[in-house]
Amino acid sequence: MPKKIVIDCDPGIDDALAIALAHGNPDLDVVGLTTVAGNVGLAHTTNNARCLSAFYGMDAPVAAGADRPLVREPVVAEQVHGGNGLGGVRLPAATSTASAGYAADFLVDALAAAPGQIGLVAVGPLTNIALAVRKEPRIVEWARELVIMGGSYTRGNRTPAAEFNVLADPEAAAIVFGAGWRPVMIGLDLTAQARAVAAVRERWRGLGRLEAELISPILDFYGSHPHYRDEGPAVHDACAVAYAIDPGLFRAVPARVDVELHGRFTTGMTVTDFDAPAQRCNAEVATVLDTDRFWDLLQAAFSHVATRMS
Ligand code: RIB
Ligand code: CA
Repeated sequence: MPKKIVIDCDPGIDDALAIALAHGNPDLDVVGLTTVAGNVGLAHTTNNARCLSAFYGMDAPVAAGADRPLVREPVVAEQVHGGNGLGGVRLPAATSTASAGYAADFLVDALAAAPGQIGLVAVGPLTNIALAVRKEPRIVEWARELVIMGGSYTRGNRTPAAEFNVLADPEAAAIVFGAGWRPVMIGLDLTAQARAVAAVRERWRGLGRLEAELISPILDFYGSHPHYRDEGPAVHDACAVAYAIDPGLFRAVPARVDVELHGRFTTGMTVTDFDAPAQRCNAEVATVLDTDRFWDLLQAAFSHVATRMS
């Protein structure tokens, strides 16, 4: 029986690959996409989610959420993902994808209707997740799991200290890490191991429209960013979906994660204490990825999606 998940996302080039992985893997059933402002504004992230869902042949509803962080002014990552969030790639318009109300309401309603059965995979700023927790604190018991692409236990990517998803809404991240569940943190230390270098991309040649119209052009754009030019584009968000598919691809260790909200140079830092006593630990932090099995997972999923696209 496939595991049901909702992906909260800000597509976003690596979000697009994560959604394809989730849709193409037989062990997952994507029951919804919720969107948040992040890499680009909410209108773009929501349109991209709808277009990606239609392009991949998904029937998951899309629920738009927060158009700005809880407290701070919005930050975007257009320099990494392009002004439209997909490196300028324009997918066919989404006509069929249902809209499913406000993201935080969708999350609460979905989890309330199926306690223990739906996992959350959050790959954008955590604003929607925080709003859902504030609306209905019991979702921390109802969610089967929460996997977060975000944070870092070493250095950041938006600042020397802070990873983008956490920095974009640090108050939301603090609420989520402090809510009493046990999220899995897939941070930059882990995702830096998942680089779509030339040898990896060579495996995706011949995937028809999926490769020609999406994967190749968005990775060309993403990989041209100075962050990725030397070591290759890190497919951050797909790592979080891969964890939902098979935690056995990862080594993860318990830790205490606190989000810095006041540091002049360190705001948005996920301060990670691997030496915290067990009763203070609030997260499982992923440290090692089995990259061979990870790329095999993506190859199989992308092939599955490509052969079923219209
Ligand atoms: O720091 C990487 C994260 O920020 C990824 O989720 C990427 O899509 C951006 O949202
Ligand atoms: Ca993202």
